[in-house]
Amino acid sequence: MSLRSIIAGAGGYLPERVVTNDELARTVDTSDDWIRERTGIRQRHFAGPHETAAFMGTAAARAALTHAKAEPSDVDAVILATSTPDQAFPATAIRVMAALGMQRGFGFDLAAACAGFIYALSVADGMIRAGQAKGVLVIGSEVYSRILNWQDRGTCVLFGDGAGAVFLRASDGSDTDQGILSTHLHAQGSLGDILYVDGAVGQRDRPGHLVMNGREVFRHAVTRLAEAVDEALNANGLARRDIDWLVPHQANRRIIDGMGRKLGLAADRVVITVDRHANTSAASVPLALSEACQDGRIKRGDLVLLEALGGGLAWGSALVRM
Ligand code: ACO
Repeated sequence: MSLRSIIAGAGGYLPERVVTNDELARTVDTSDDWIRERTGIRQRHFAGPHETAAFMGTAAARAALTHAKAEPSDVDAVILATSTPDQAFPATAIRVMAALGMQRGFGFDLAAACAGFIYALSVADGMIRAGQAKGVLVIGSEVYSRILNWQDRGTCVLFGDGAGAVFLRASDGSDTDQGILSTHLHAQGSLGDILYVDGAVGQRDRPGHLVMNGREVFRHAVTRLAEAVDEALNANGLARRDIDWLVPHQANRRIIDGMGRKLGLAADRVVITVDRHANTSAASVPLALSEACQDGRIKRGDLVLLEALGGGLAWGSALVRM
């Protein structure tokens, strides 16, 4: 019997406060035109004091469980991708477990910046295939508004806060072709200085702010992501035309459009949220996936390609039959 992981449900959470480009332009030397033209972003959500990674991750997890018609008691493990945890420890994943009222199971956080959700999905899939867990919550939850440098207009206009989650259920694969077909992870540490946070709790008096060389990130993103997409298709003997939906990391409309064109996908086959959410890092892929699953665009049987790239550089892809 060979086990596989089915995405049984997906959910998301966005902070209540919406900040438009015009509102940002009141305090940052920027404009709605510049932001829209370069990135496609119209607005973002910023977390209030109570909307931490654990709070938002819990809300997204609850939505994913409801969508899957599952209960917290069905969850064996919580894997939460974040670069903005509530605390150094306990893990934000375990805070989520407590908030969900889970009495058993295990949880941990995973840091791979914007690629965090793809990394977490891959780890969860491996655990399910190995028989270590039957129900896994995979969450991406981020409060980048807390690590932005408001003096750097080249980065502070690009990000937003939010959380997305999926609930994975083990299946023996005997009665369905659904499931995660494969995941593909990569990292190149020699490119660590083109996108990073210049501090952390482990560094005295330096909580850290995000620093980015946008042009370099852009250049690597398009090439690496195209490679990761072809790698996923080749591993499964599939072609670009077989993809029903692309759910990309939502960093920038120009990167997303470039990927869609490379894959030969019609624009309406690419899920876009960057215009409303901006870049929510590890939360962006599960937020986009949950939106398209919940509104009925992505249907059972569709072949969905997920991809993301971010600080590390770390990047990856996943191919899923819904
Ligand atoms: N508002 C107005 N003007 C601005 C702003 C702003 N917010 N930011 C920069 N500018 C100005 C610069 O000062 C510069 O002015 P100058 O020519 O007078 O010196 C001009 O705009 C061009 O600046 P660049 O940084 O060269 O702008 P670029 O065209 O490269 O666009 C951007 C910047 C949008 C970040 C682009 O590099 C990009 O898309 N990068 C991809 C990386 C990305 O999206 N990263 C997100 C996180 S990483 C990830 O998730 C993959």
